[in-house]
Amino acid sequence: MAILVTGGAGYIGSHTVVELLNTNRDIVVLDNLSNSSEVSLERVKKITGKTAKFYQGDILDREILRKIFAENQIDSVIHFAGLKAVGESVQKPLYYYQNNVTGSIVLVEEMLKANVNTIVFSSSATVYGDPAEIPITENCPVGGTTNPYGTSKYMVERILEDTTKAFPQFSAVVLRYFNPVGAHSSGLIGEDPNGIPNNLLPYISQVAVGKLQQLSVFGSDYDTYDGTGVRDYIHVVDLAIGHLKALEKHQDDAGFHIYNLGTGTGYSVLDMVKAFEQSNEIQVPYKLVDRRPGDIATCYSNPKKALEVLGWKTERDLNQMMKDTWNWQKNNPNGYKG
Ligand code: NAD
Ligand code: UD1
Repeated sequence: MAILVTGGAGYIGSHTVVELLNTNRDIVVLDNLSNSSEVSLERVKKITGKTAKFYQGDILDREILRKIFAENQIDSVIHFAGLKAVGESVQKPLYYYQNNVTGSIVLVEEMLKANVNTIVFSSSATVYGDPAEIPITENCPVGGTTNPYGTSKYMVERILEDTTKAFPQFSAVVLRYFNPVGAHSSGLIGEDPNGIPNNLLPYISQVAVGKLQQLSVFGSDYDTYDGTGVRDYIHVVDLAIGHLKALEKHQDDAGFHIYNLGTGTGYSVLDMVKAFEQSNEIQVPYKLVDRRPGDIATCYSNPKKALEVLGWKTERDLNQMMKDTWNWQKNNPNGYKG
């Protein structure tokens, strides 16, 4: 039996495909390459010595989904495919809802027709909005999202929950990621953002490699220990392994299952700059500027449920996140473009 990984050529998807291939699973990847390159899958092959079967196509395309389910014995789906740029989602809400929400509906409809009854979905801590309590547990209220990207994640969560109620054989696992960073220790795969990065670590590493001049620290007057925003950064390989654990536990385990995937520790923007500098012995010039609209002060997880139920916890510390980010960036200054 094989696992279908939608969005498997992307950042988190490619790292998860590595971990899945390392456990000798048969993997099929569906990706339209709208935000990725097939080179990532060639690198996955280099790392693992194994090949994932690749279909270039769209989750909105029923024909290719039917073809995949007909040609392969798929028993579960890990669903990464989606658009993720918060700012762009505000400009192009219909594009985001069409891709992320309608795309997920089409995928689940075709899964049900093909009698594939397990899905693991990439959600985000963004569904908690400005969180009711810190650290955030899975019971915190959700839905106070402030942009179409976040709302699309919340909507897909609800759609999956309702599907598990209507189809008693259906198992849906929602993984709420905190802030994924880092790269595979080989330096062969990593995050390859288009244009100027929005997220902190890709920005820091592009400053370090000389592509950008200096980091702007968004806000130094938050109610945090040094005034800058605090987040729960999680190494992408730990995150990838979380997907394997979720699948092991909930394959064909009908119902709706939610987990936070984070470390449980918050670091400030200035902590991150200092850690990057110390781990890699390289300076990261920065300036303090105004807050970025839509940002919150503090966001970190209580990851206890994932430990108790899945037996999963993070193993890679901040130093490892920084070293692996830099190893990827310095060896691939232009990402997969060479
Ligand atoms: P990514 O852009 O690197 O990967 C997403 C992949 O999906 C890309 O390869 C893209 O080409 C593909 N894709 C997009 N729309 C598609 C479609 N309609 N059909 C087929 N393929 C399509 O992003 P990522 O960081 O690896 O994120 C993976 C998932 O995790 C996304 O759903 C994202 O929203 C979610 N997530 C990411 C983060 C993060 O910080 N990276 C945080 C929380 C949640
Ligand atoms: C952002 C998204 C969130 C998404 C997550 C992961 C917003 C409002 N939220 O979260 O929906 O799930 O990415 O992709 O965009 N920072 C700087 N300078 C920079 C970049 C960031 O100071 O150039 C700060 C931010 O203010 C924040 C921290 O670094 O305090 C982390 O930012 P970022 O990596 O963008 O992640 P989030 O804002 O947590």
